[in-house]
Amino acid sequence: MAQEDNFKKFVSHCKEYGYIFPSSEIYDGLSAVYDYGQYGVELKNNIKKYWWDSMVLLNSNIVGIDAAIFMHPTTWKASGHVDAFNDPLIDNKDSKKRYRADVLIEEHIAKIEEKINREIEKAKARFGATFDEKKFRETNQRILDCQLKIDDVNGKFAEALNNSDLQAIRQIIVDNEIVCPISGTRNWTDVRQFNLMFSTEMGSTSEGASKVYLRPETAQGIFVNFLNVQKTGRMKLPFGIAQIGKAFRNEIVARQFIFRMREFEQMEMQFFVRPGTELDWFREWKHKRMKWHQSLGFGSDNYRFHDHVKLAHYANAATDIEYKFPFGFKEVEGIHSRTDYDLKQHQEYSGKKMQYFDPEKGESYVPYVIETSIGVDRMFLQVISASYAEEEVKKEDGTSDMRTVLRLPECLAPVKLAVMPLVRKDGLPEIAENIIRDLRFDFNCQYDDKDSIGKRYRRQDAIGTPFCITIDHQTLEDDSVTIRRRDSMIQERVKTGQLKDIISEKVSIRNLLKRL
Ligand code: GAP
Repeated sequence: MAQEDNFKKFVSHCKEYGYIFPSSEIYDGLSAVYDYGQYGVELKNNIKKYWWDSMVLLNSNIVGIDAAIFMHPTTWKASGHVDAFNDPLIDNKDSKKRYRADVLIEEHIAKIEEKINREIEKAKARFGATFDEKKFRETNQRILDCQLKIDDVNGKFAEALNNSDLQAIRQIIVDNEIVCPISGTRNWTDVRQFNLMFSTEMGSTSEGASKVYLRPETAQGIFVNFLNVQKTGRMKLPFGIAQIGKAFRNEIVARQFIFRMREFEQMEMQFFVRPGTELDWFREWKHKRMKWHQSLGFGSDNYRFHDHVKLAHYANAATDIEYKFPFGFKEVEGIHSRTDYDLKQHQEYSGKKMQYFDPEKGESYVPYVIETSIGVDRMFLQVISASYAEEEVKKEDGTSDMRTVLRLPECLAPVKLAVMPLVRKDGLPEIAENIIRDLRFDFNCQYDDKDSIGKRYRRQDAIGTPFCITIDHQTLEDDSVTIRRRDSMIQERVKTGQLKDIISEKVSIRNLLKRL
């Protein structure tokens, strides 16, 4: 089945099983805005906990804050968002569709990369174990031609972006014969800049309302609180401030489900360091963040760094951690060395000193900052799409069946165990309820007594519940139950008293944090 069809099935699975609903669906939804359902919110909270604990619990020099979404409007002047938080837009005159010009170019490059990958896959199949990918990349003419095209486009693209040359960006689209995916034509308008911030009015008009913005990133709430936290927490450099919160961007190209949303959530950490040490810390945080992702067990090969060709004017190093989504390698997290730009800008615009007194050096200075910034929703999409599988299951009578399963890492799964009485009589439901009464302080438990056991297993597989506990007549005799594991589908008999230890050993977030 084509990847696109698979992705569509996966999106409907998220809705059918209470993970994600389109916002205000009864009114036909609101573009690029989504609601999280009863399981979605649990998974999202678990992802946030994994991030928060890895930052705030495991590092004695990182503390958290929760700043307001509204900020003084000058914040966004100082940060550069009022003047420079723009996307380059282009319209196709035939389809009347609007695109981000940079995305059209990036997708064109991705298509050429896809050609290279296909050549390599074909050669791998032809040469088997003797295949030398490095040598093949260096010598195969088709691959060399493709790579030349990529380097050419990348070079021109970086130059155009660096010079903010909108005409040159349009020329790349024209020269590479990039067509509108809807009309199939190359009838393009000029490229224009579009500011991504949402604004609204604060205060009533009679009092004189002022224009405020919905924050487009959480980071500025950390920068403006830098000295509050440093002084009240008696923090010494290097130290970090972490925050999780909503951000808003009026995205033009809002596609691929929750990948690019207009209202989303970020988990950001600004790490304040002594000037001159920032590139060492940048390397350190690259390493730490990649480990955080890879510890989830979705396969190290599915992650890569993408170092930025074009650096923002305030950065002296930047990279993205990309994950191989069903629609290709895409950014999940950004790690940026933002120099002292933001603190200096706030110092200038507010007229308040944003300096740190370094007791070892005996001098004051504006610290440099390494930022790690990850989207909660994009991480959610990464986790759930990586976990989604449709697989054939052999039955005892030799026939087979299909099951859809979410192989979520156990510690992130919304429901940890489902407790199922085999029948709704003979005291079995009461035993099931007692087990839940005992375990619900430690785990999110679900009671399920409808349909056959097979159907109930399938339902829990589709939600991603790692354990199913079945109570049967033998339980009445020896206080034992069957515990069935989601991934292996293996069932074993254990005493009810053992359940808590067996389950916590697998689902505790502690195990994950210990791997970091
Ligand atoms: N403070 C730096 C910053 O905001 P960014 O690269 O613009 O950097 C960081 O965003 C992360 O936030 C991205 O890697 C992505 O995971 C997430 N993100 C950004 N825009 C998003 C959107 N429209 N929808 C969902 N997630 C988004």
